[in-house]
Amino acid sequence: MQQETLERLHSRYLVQAAWTASIREQLFDSIQINGTHKVLEVGSGTGVISAEISQQFPLEIVGVDIDRSAVTFAKNIDPASSYLAGDGNNLPFQPAVFDVAVCHFLLLWVEDPEKILDEMVRVTKPGGWVLALAEPDYGGRIDYPRELETVGQMQIQALLDQGAKPYLGRTLRALFHAAKLTEIRSGLLGGEWQGSPDEEQLESEWETLARDLSHLLPADEIEQFRRIDRKAWKMGTRVLFVPTFYAAGRVPPI
Ligand SMILES: C[S@@+](CC[C@H](N)C(=O)[O-])C[C@H]1O[C@@H](n2cnc3c(N)ncnc32)[C@H](O)[C@@H]1O
Repeated sequence: MQQETLERLHSRYLVQAAWTASIREQLFDSIQINGTHKVLEVGSGTGVISAEISQQFPLEIVGVDIDRSAVTFAKNIDPASSYLAGDGNNLPFQPAVFDVAVCHFLLLWVEDPEKILDEMVRVTKPGGWVLALAEPDYGGRIDYPRELETVGQMQIQALLDQGAKPYLGRTLRALFHAAKLTEIRSGLLGGEWQGSPDEEQLESEWETLARDLSHLLPADEIEQFRRIDRKAWKMGTRVLFVPTFYAAGRVPPI
């Protein structure tokens, strides 16, 4: 991937990580991540979540991503952590090496989320935790004004066309059970609207959306939706809610 694309993705991942920060705070607290030593992030991308963890807690973190250019980018922005190129379907680690294994916006993008979770369980120590920190479910998306509901439906189609799983969120609990995790807890990030996203965030959202929808809608229709969206944000009437699920489960102690 080109540097410019990686920088754009990195900015987007930073925005997404800000949306889901409260889930991480709550989950990390509940599993007492502070007392652990070795944490793995699968699908670490440009390093946003791993860097945050390494800045917050005195532990060793390893990020693994299938995309080598993302790994190089992450190493540059976060030299304190370790990043490796690798496939979550076949993690390059011995069994029971990590205290905690996490992923964030990963499972909806992979072909076989069961396999990825099985691997996360395999490399986590008995008694350790596996956390899916955020997985959206676009089937539960709420839009207001209602003209923008079409955008939500088109986004589902665009995700399906990219091979992603737009309804992954609702399956998270079942996936954790299938992975034989115990003490499973799962939930949903709440919604709250105050003011509007800044210009840069809105631009970046629409840039991604326009690209994703370009084969489904003519450019002028996309532009019309963009105008309705911006106007509603400005008026303070816009509601956009994509249910984002999380789950935590414990690897059975021996
Ligand atoms: C949406 S990004 C999320 C990145 C990061 N977790 C974050 O939230 O900032 C998903 C990442 O998963 C990676 N990925 C997809 N399939 C993977 C696999 N099989 N093994 C490892 N990484 C994978 C992609 O390369 C991409 O960097």
